[in-house]
Amino acid sequence: MKTLLCGKGGSGKSTLTALIAKSLSERGCNVLVIDNDESNFGLHMQMGLELPDDFLNFLGGKKNLVGKMMEAFPKGEKLSLFDHKWEISTIPEGYVTRKGNLSLIAVGKIHEFGEGCACPMGALAKQLIQNIELGENDFVLVDTEAGIEHFGRGVEEGCDVLFMVADPSYESIRLSEKISKLADNSGKPLYYILNRAEGASREILSCGISEDRVISTVPIYESIFKAGLLGDEFHIFVPEVKMVADFLIEHKSK
Ligand SMILES: Nc1ncnc2c1ncn2[C@@H]1O[C@H](COP(=O)(O)OP(=O)(O)OP(=O)(O)O)[C@@H](O)[C@H]1O
Ligand SMILES: [Mg+2]
Repeated sequence: MKTLLCGKGGSGKSTLTALIAKSLSERGCNVLVIDNDESNFGLHMQMGLELPDDFLNFLGGKKNLVGKMMEAFPKGEKLSLFDHKWEISTIPEGYVTRKGNLSLIAVGKIHEFGEGCACPMGALAKQLIQNIELGENDFVLVDTEAGIEHFGRGVEEGCDVLFMVADPSYESIRLSEKISKLADNSGKPLYYILNRAEGASREILSCGISEDRVISTVPIYESIFKAGLLGDEFHIFVPEVKMVADFLIEHKSK
């Protein structure tokens, strides 16, 4: 099962990606997290892993990838970046960090002033997700950058299910309408996780989002906030996140 988490900036995508990954791995699943946010540097800390080298470097770096894209697109050719499929365990070493049954890939980060846009990362993420073959007990979670640009780049194509993380804000309610349409266009099922949603704010948020698609509501946890602030690995049991892990395990067996 390959799941992509999306939502507005700061809604809790990376926090939930790390917590769901940990929860699945505690249940004995193999989990690969694909960090597809070119700007942020905290996800690996929350997973308790080193940040791997940019996967972009496996293909010779951004310039090289842009060269391949420029060569293929004017001729109307399909860009094909990989010549064989990988399993989670056969992803080339150096571009993945691992601990137990948790693995992490970072598609590519912005490192230099003026190095160019992140479009090549989107093209790479799309093919990378599609290039990984999953076994019975394997899960992929894709953490995305804020907003909806990844829909424009077609990153969702290789995923089985989409989770929108919605925090109690007007922007999340409006964005949920847009993402619902984009998910329909992509043909992928969309579910919502309401995050930092409690009491009246949860009520208002759920009025704007289809309740039957909400799989969990995660309240504000001081322990999550503190670990996020300090860059600590999550060692937190969150029952509302376990519900999401249960959902994925059940959904997979259908
Ligand atoms: N349920 C929660 N309880 C308390 N704090 C939370 C919770 N969820 C997220 N946070 C905090 O909210 C902030 C934003 O979370 P996070 O970085 O995961 O959001 P994001 O959607 O990944 O942001 P970005 O769009 O920048 O990638 C962090 O400080 C995080 O610790
Ligand atoms: Mg994030």
